Amino acid sequence: MSLKRKIKDLQKRREEVLSGGGEKAIEKQVAMGKLTARERIIELLDEDSFHEYDLFVEHEARDFDMDKKILHGDGVIIGTGRLYGAPVCIYAQDFTVAGGSLGLMHARKISKIMDHAMKMRVPLIGINDSGGARVQEGVNSLAGYGEIFYRNTLASGVIPQISVILGPCAGGAVYSPALTDFVFVVDKISKMFITGPEVIKTVLGEEISMEDLGGAKVHSEITGNAHFYAESEAECFSQIKKLITYIPWNNTNKAKQFPPKNPKPEYKIDDIVPGDPKQPYDIIDVIKAVVDDSEFFEVQKLWASNIVIGFGRLDGETIGFVANQPLVLAGVLDVDSSDKAARFIRYCDAFNIPIVTLVDLPGYLPGVDQEHAGVIRHGAKILYAYSEATVPKITVILRKAYGGGYIAMNSRHLRADFVFAWPGAEIAVMGPEGAANIIFRKEIASAENPEEMRKKKIAEYKEKFANPYVAAAKGYVDSVIEPEETRRILLHSIQVSAHKAETRPIKKHGIPPF
Ligand code: HXC
Repeated sequence: MSLKRKIKDLQKRREEVLSGGGEKAIEKQVAMGKLTARERIIELLDEDSFHEYDLFVEHEARDFDMDKKILHGDGVIIGTGRLYGAPVCIYAQDFTVAGGSLGLMHARKISKIMDHAMKMRVPLIGINDSGGARVQEGVNSLAGYGEIFYRNTLASGVIPQISVILGPCAGGAVYSPALTDFVFVVDKISKMFITGPEVIKTVLGEEISMEDLGGAKVHSEITGNAHFYAESEAECFSQIKKLITYIPWNNTNKAKQFPPKNPKPEYKIDDIVPGDPKQPYDIIDVIKAVVDDSEFFEVQKLWASNIVIGFGRLDGETIGFVANQPLVLAGVLDVDSSDKAARFIRYCDAFNIPIVTLVDLPGYLPGVDQEHAGVIRHGAKILYAYSEATVPKITVILRKAYGGGYIAMNSRHLRADFVFAWPGAEIAVMGPEGAANIIFRKEIASAENPEEMRKKKIAEYKEKFANPYVAAAKGYVDSVIEPEETRRILLHSIQVSAHKAETRPIKKHGIPPF
C-alpha cells in the first residue's frame, strides 16, 4: 500500500472512531441538552490546542456478547491541551458509547492520562458522564476504579484535580470526583449518587427522582460535594477557565501573577460594617473592598454559607479568603462550615496560596443537633488546618471574635503571621450579655432593679473586655487599624511574607480529625 493510501486509511479509521456511539446515540445526547464528549473538550480548551491519544484502543471483554460489540475509544477520550495557556491533561467520558461505562481499557486510558499529568506536573481535568462500572466486565471494572482512586490520592496536593460532572456519575464512580479538589456541576445535567432511585425503591420502598436524589442543586446546597454550580455547560466551562487563572499548575509553583488593580470605588470599606454588633452585613462587600478590581471568585457559594471561601488577588497575587458571613447564622462555625473552611485552608496550603482570614463571629453554634452531628470532631478540623498550614496567614478581626471562634479563625495562637483588629473589634470569651449574666449573677439577682443592674454590668463588661486593646496589650493582636487601612496593610503583609519559611515536625503524616 502506498503512503498516500495508508494516510487515507488512517483518515477513515479516525473518522470511524470520531463517530462515537453513532448518530442515534448522539441525537439522544443532544436532546438531553448535552454536548458530546469531544465537543466538550474542544469548547473548554484553548483553540486548536487539543491532541488526543489512544483513539484506537479497543476493549477486550468477551462475555455477554461483548466480543461482537465495537466500542469506539472504549467510551472515553483522553489527551493534552492548554487552558488559558496552562498545559493540562484531560479526559471526557463518552456517554454515546455504552453509556460511558467504565471497563478495563476505559480505565487504563484514564489512568494513563493521570500518570501523564503527574509526570508532567500539570492540572488534570476529568469530565464525567457515565453509567458507572461496565456491568459486563465485572471485577475488571472494579479494578479500573481502584486504580483511578489510588492515582487521585497520590496526585492530591501535587497537581490540581478538577472534576466536571456532565451526566450521570453513578455508584462507585462518584469517589473519583470526591477525591479531587474541585467538583463542577450543571443544573439538570449532573447526577451523582451511590445507589440510584431503582435500588432505593427496591430496598427501602421509597420513590425519588434522580434530580432530587443527587442533582446539581442537591450537591451544591445540601451535601457540599460540588464546589461550583452552573446553569449550562457553557457557564460551567467559563467557571473552570476562571479557576485555572487563580491556581498554580502544581505544588512547586505559585499561581500566575496578574497586573495589580485597585478595588472599584463603589466598595467603600468604611460604610460596610455596622457599629452595632447585632446588625448583619455582607462580608463579601468587605472582600470586594480590599481585593484587586473588586473581583472575588467564591467557592462552594451555595453550601454552608455562614462561612465564605474563595479566591481574590492582592497586588496581582492569588490569595485564599476565609471569612465569617454575618448574613447567615451570624457567621457561626458549625459542622459544615468547619469542614468547608478546613478543606479550603489545606488546599491553599498545598498550593502555595497565602490565606487572609476575616473574623466576625459569635463562636461555635450551640445546640443538641450540632453536638450530635459531631461539632467537636468537625470543629477540630479548622483548628488542625490552620495550625498545620505554613503559607503566609493573615487575620483581620472586624467585629466579634468570641470564645472558640476567636481561636479557630487563624488566631496568633494557631500561628497567624499577622493579626490586625479594627477599633470596633470585641475579643472576649463570650458576648457581653452572656458574660455579665455569669460573673455578675449574684449582684443582678439581689439588686433592687435587676434589669437596670444587668444593663449596667453588661456595659461594664463591654467597657473592660469587648474591645481589641486587651488582646493588643498582650501582643495577640499586632496592630489596631482603621478599616480604611485594611488593603494597604494586607498588601504590606503579603509583600513581607514573600519568602516565608516555616517548618513543622518531620512525620509520615498527621492524623487530622477527618
Ligand atoms: C454497561 C451501561 C451501563 C453500565 C449504561 N449502560 N450504564 N452498560 N454498564 N453500568 C448502557 C445501557 O445499557 C445503554 O446501552 C447505554 O449505556 C445508554 O444507557 P441508557 O440506560 O439507555 O441511558 P439513560 O436512559 O440515559 O440512563 C442512564 C443511566 C442508566 C441512569 C446511567 O443507564 C443506569 O441506571 N445505568 C446503571 C447505573 C448504575 O447503577 N451504575 C452502577 C454500576 S455499579 P444500549 O446498548 O442499550 O444503548 C458501580 C460500582 C462501582 O458503578 C464500584 C467502584 C468502587
